[in-house]
Amino acid sequence: MEKLVVKGPTPLKGEVIISGAKNAAVAILPATLLINGICRIENLPNISDVKLYCEILEHLGAKITWHTNNDITIDTRHIDCNADIIEITRKFRASYYLIGSLLGRCGSATVGIPGGCKLGARPIDLHIKGFEALGATTNTTQGNIYATADKLVGTSIYLDIASVGATINIMLASVLAEGTTVIDNAAKEPHIVDVANFLNTMGADIRGAGTDTIKVHGVKELRGGATYSVVPDQIEAGTFMLAAVASRGDLVIKNCIPEHLEPLTAKVVEIGAHVEESGDELHVWCDKRPSKANIKTLPYPGFPTDLQPQMGVVLATADGTSIINESIWESRFQYTAELNKMGANITDQGKSALFQGVPELYGAPVNVTDLRAGAALIIAGVSAKGTTEIYNIEHIDRGYEDIEGKFRKIGANIERVEE
Ligand code: UD1
Repeated sequence: MEKLVVKGPTPLKGEVIISGAKNAAVAILPATLLINGICRIENLPNISDVKLYCEILEHLGAKITWHTNNDITIDTRHIDCNADIIEITRKFRASYYLIGSLLGRCGSATVGIPGGCKLGARPIDLHIKGFEALGATTNTTQGNIYATADKLVGTSIYLDIASVGATINIMLASVLAEGTTVIDNAAKEPHIVDVANFLNTMGADIRGAGTDTIKVHGVKELRGGATYSVVPDQIEAGTFMLAAVASRGDLVIKNCIPEHLEPLTAKVVEIGAHVEESGDELHVWCDKRPSKANIKTLPYPGFPTDLQPQMGVVLATADGTSIINESIWESRFQYTAELNKMGANITDQGKSALFQGVPELYGAPVNVTDLRAGAALIIAGVSAKGTTEIYNIEHIDRGYEDIEGKFRKIGANIERVEE
């Protein structure tokens, strides 16, 4: 077991280069199963979720060549539709994309009920509703999901909730379906656009990704033969923006798409920090104690739930009392108990939390409860006085490439040590 030891406070200064988006990568990798050919994927983040996905693809018969840690070629010409992937798919949430892609490729899929971060109930009823509307039969028993279809036929599907996972999964299942599928009330997150762009580059016909209505015109096959570069991770970029603010630092965040960060930039400016945009860079600095703010997490283009814990660290030492309303995940305030161990004064009220700003945090031993909470605790450790020991860091490695290396380069005193 490893832990991170952070000594603070350090105002973070310098440049940080953002990696490819985790949530795009874990959808693009299963999307390669729809291709009967070879494709190259660049700018993949070097994280454990990507490695696990590559293992699953190899288990299914894909041949993967690693050119670097971020750049692979995948040959999906010989897929074994009967390979047993039940146990391995249980290990992480994004394995639900294998249902859509294997339905498209093989006409059947059997996966273990997806695991992932414990953020509250994480149903996949909307995914199932979409597959069944396309003509599949599904059955959930003994912790497994079985889906089969003699033929998938395009139809209109209205999502009761603009779910990221359901939008992508229905897109995957409908790319090779007969006719046109229309997804209404689709989610609009940047990684949905990225998955659609990837599939279109490989020969699909998807229009409207990034809007409320996505139209997928089914094609006979995807041939591949192309190279695709994964979009920069807006959550990683936002994490470093908030690290600059919390530590009263000055960072240039490179290789990001500023437009994807607008909901966060607006809040960062509102609380008194500074943001300057230039091409694919954001310059963020903060020279005084931020002021309070109220936040409500919402689907894109609202304030992202995946940046809520990192924002919580900033508001923990803001001047005044702030409220965060969490509208996506019911158990996303678990990190507040850890921040309170560091001297914060936060009251978790279930769907919302009250942040009574304190002048400073101090180091303490803390536990990571989920991926983004882990990033938040690193930011807290860098900004706090004294030593913070962060346990259960495997959550962080699932989704952040070389997190301590990137923090060290901008001045943090952070080390990974064996427990
Ligand atoms: C994705 C992201 C996750 C992010 C979340 C919201 C990936 C791999 N993960 O998760 O990091 O926090 O979007 O931006 O991309 N819901 C249902 N039924 C369903 C599906 C979802 O009720 O069938 C509900 C969920 O309980 C939740 C809301 O819809 O309250 C949004 O979930 P969704 O957008 O699907 O999140 P994920 O795709 O799981």
